[in-house]
Amino acid sequence: MNKKVLIGGAATLLAAIGIYKIASTKKSASSPADDWTTANMPDLTGKVIIVTGANSGIGFEAAKEFARKGAQVVLACRSLDKATTAVTEIQLEIPDAQVEIIQLDLANQNSVHEFAGTFQARYDRLDVLVNNAGIMMTPYSTTEDGFESQFGTNHLGHFALTGLLRDHLLNTPGARVVNVSSTGHRMGHMDFDNLMYAQGEGYSAAKAYGRSKLANLLFTYELQRRFAAAGADAIAVAAHPGGSNTNLSHHMEDKMLYKLATPLLKRMLQSAAMGALPTIRAAVDPDVKGGDYYGPGGFMQQGGYPILVDSNDQSHDLADAKRLWQVSETLTRVTFGPLDQY
Ligand SMILES: NC(=O)c1ccc[n+]([C@@H]2O[C@H](COP(=O)([O-])OP(=O)(O)OC[C@H]3O[C@@H](n4cnc5c(N)ncnc54)[C@H](OP(=O)(O)O)[C@@H]3O)[C@@H](O)[C@H]2O)c1
Repeated sequence: MNKKVLIGGAATLLAAIGIYKIASTKKSASSPADDWTTANMPDLTGKVIIVTGANSGIGFEAAKEFARKGAQVVLACRSLDKATTAVTEIQLEIPDAQVEIIQLDLANQNSVHEFAGTFQARYDRLDVLVNNAGIMMTPYSTTEDGFESQFGTNHLGHFALTGLLRDHLLNTPGARVVNVSSTGHRMGHMDFDNLMYAQGEGYSAAKAYGRSKLANLLFTYELQRRFAAAGADAIAVAAHPGGSNTNLSHHMEDKMLYKLATPLLKRMLQSAAMGALPTIRAAVDPDVKGGDYYGPGGFMQQGGYPILVDSNDQSHDLADAKRLWQVSETLTRVTFGPLDQY
């Protein structure tokens, strides 16, 4: 293994657990008195919650806890087999869980439209849309619609889904959109001249992941500004799970360095159940406000109980947020109706 490969591999691994380029956390680590756990969740009876990527990792844990509190949970998953296994597991633990699967492939805009149509035909409210599904650091590839896969799945798929479900969100009192980002957003940069690394030009798996996660935050804050400007009751918030033990890194499993470091990595990562807490808090804590961003309160935001955290300056760039919104509408051909007047 040459030096360049080793250094590159090490950088990828560090990025994978989310500690690459992280700026210092401005908030102090949580004290036991602040610890927010599932015990703090309110009753969710009567609420309808969609979780994308609910068959695995953070999404699975969040869906399970929402169901435990009485919500009707829609598991929006690309694999019906995996989703069925997840439902079986949830129902074994929570026999009266109200869970339903509706197929959703975020890498296929037709599938996003079909999902939205099916959901709207079955439900007349949407209390929380958890845009959780994601892929990380995949080799260069494109989605069904020709979008770079990480940007297309992690951002554009969720952008279109949210736009298509906007009426349900606007018509449900206190509705929320929760976008799951990452400390990896700090690796991202919005280059609007080559947003999706056309033909793989200049592609870096880590930077493309960072861009997609930065886009999650730009979208969150812009959506929140538009909800507020429209006088909507709905809010948009973000969360990240720190470094959590899930299936997210499976694309890297054939890499030699990853194989060598896996035992150490697994020990460094917190459980998926702990990693889901920021998402769950962002989705249901009554004290959450529009534009909030929750993440683990421990060392470098990699583990611990959920607290309010900061994202970087780029994620708050108003011009980038507006431009990303416009570009995303053009690419997906999904618009936001009343939220587009601002
Ligand atoms: N784990 C971490 O340390 C960490 C750190 C920072 C941020 N995050 C973020 O947390 C979120 C959840 O990831 P995770 O860690 O729970 O990983 P995971 O266990 O791999 O779960 C990802 C989920 O997304 C689904 N998914 C992927 N592509 C999809 C598509 N095209 N359409 C629909 N669903 C799709 C996966 O479905 P399949 O099972 O079919 O692949 C899976 O259900 C992601 O947004 C990720 O960026 C995770």
